[in-house]
Formats: sequence, structure tokens, C-alpha cells
Amino acid sequence: MRQLIAGNWKMNGLLEASAALAGALRRGADGLDCDIVICPPATMLMTVAHVLVGSPVEIGGQDCHAKASGAHTGDVSAAMLRDAGARWVIVGHSERRADHGETSAQVRAKAIAAMAAGLTPIVCVGETEAQRVSGDALSVVGTQLAESLPEGFAGVVAYEPVWAIGTGKTATEDDVRAMHAHIRTCIGAGPRILYGGSVKASNAASLLAVPEVGGALVGGASLVVEDFLAIAKAANRG
Ligand code: 13P
Repeated sequence: MRQLIAGNWKMNGLLEASAALAGALRRGADGLDCDIVICPPATMLMTVAHVLVGSPVEIGGQDCHAKASGAHTGDVSAAMLRDAGARWVIVGHSERRADHGETSAQVRAKAIAAMAAGLTPIVCVGETEAQRVSGDALSVVGTQLAESLPEGFAGVVAYEPVWAIGTGKTATEDDVRAMHAHIRTCIGAGPRILYGGSVKASNAASLLAVPEVGGALVGGASLVVEDFLAIAKAANRG
């Protein structure tokens, strides 16, 4: 299966610079043999979608509400994301699980809402440093998957060890191999399994070559077009 390189811009950028970044990505993405998705902040979706019309680069949201509409001040529904041009949405990112206390049950409800609205959910899982040190990484992630993925899941799983996000530390290839094999056993054949956590141009090729790694979810390096394209080229293996 083609690998998927997804950029999570998180809460960064303003419209003008983001449109320029999307434009540069559009120009650089020609001929790449992988799927590319970028997830800008919600206020930028329409602008970025406009820049990317006719391009193979697709866009996603960074979160959605589990309900279709209603009295949920400040939230954005999956249908609103789709309406703005998104085809994907990240749900259950560890920053949302930590900052907003999101539970796996809520993540599951969001994944259901995303699929109902015609979006492909990218469901994030991953252990903390303490959980890895205590030897619980596999069981923690297994539980997150069991509780976060709905019946009939038609999306992507992103394994992002919390301690590797924004820290410059990455999981070893052996750890990634073991975790991705475990996730495959838990979820069965089908969904792509992305690795995320300090993916850079310099480590992308080795991480993307690990069995069962179906792509990458990239934070910081997705804000620098040369770095993001270099990661996408590392996935360029058909
Ligand atoms: P970094 O690539 O900045 O470590 O972020 C990873 C991430 O959280 C992507 O969702």
C-alpha cells in the first residue's frame, strides 16, 4: 500500500504564511509516489483548500466534535471540516488527550462522527515515557486501540509515543517494529499504521522502511516545506 505522509501543523501559523507553505508544497509534491495530507488549524482550512484545488495534496482537520451540530461553543463538527475542504481528520492526538482530558471513548465517538461525515479519521495512540519505562507500552496501546477504534473502522492509526513528540527523541527501529506488529495484530489487516514523533528528513528513510510502517505523522518538520518534502521523498518507494 502507498505510504501516507501527513503533516500536523498544530497551532502554528497565520493565513498568509500558511497559504504560502501550502503553495510551496503543491509545487514540490508533483510526482511523489505517496499520499500527502496536511492538517492546518481550522481557521485556515478553506484558504489552504483553495490553494490546493486540483493538487493531489489533501487536507485534514486536527480534531472534530463527536456531535453533528448543536450547543458546543468553540467546537467544529466533522461535517464543517468536510464542508471547508477537508477529507481527513486527526482524532485522539495525545496533546488533546492531555490538554482536554479526552478519553478513548470520546475519541471513538469522534472517529464515528468523522466517518459518518465522509472523513477518514487518523486515530492517534501512544504511551507516555513512564509507561514505556515500566514495560507497559504494548498493553497501554492495545487498550487505547480497543477503546478508541469503532466497529467497521475505516481509517488510519498513528502510533505516536508521547515522549517522542517534539522532543527530538525517536523510538528505536526495534521498538517501532515491535509496536507496529502489535498494532497490526490488534486491528487486523487493512488500516495503515503511521509512526509519529520527531520524524525528520534525517531519520525518515529508516523509520519508513520498518515493516508495518505505513507512513508518518509529522509535526514540527511539516512546517518547513523542504523538510516535509524530503520526508515524503523517503516514502517514495511505491
Ligand atoms: P513532532 O514531529 O513535532 O515530534 O510532532 C509529532 C506529532 O505530534 C504529530 O502529530
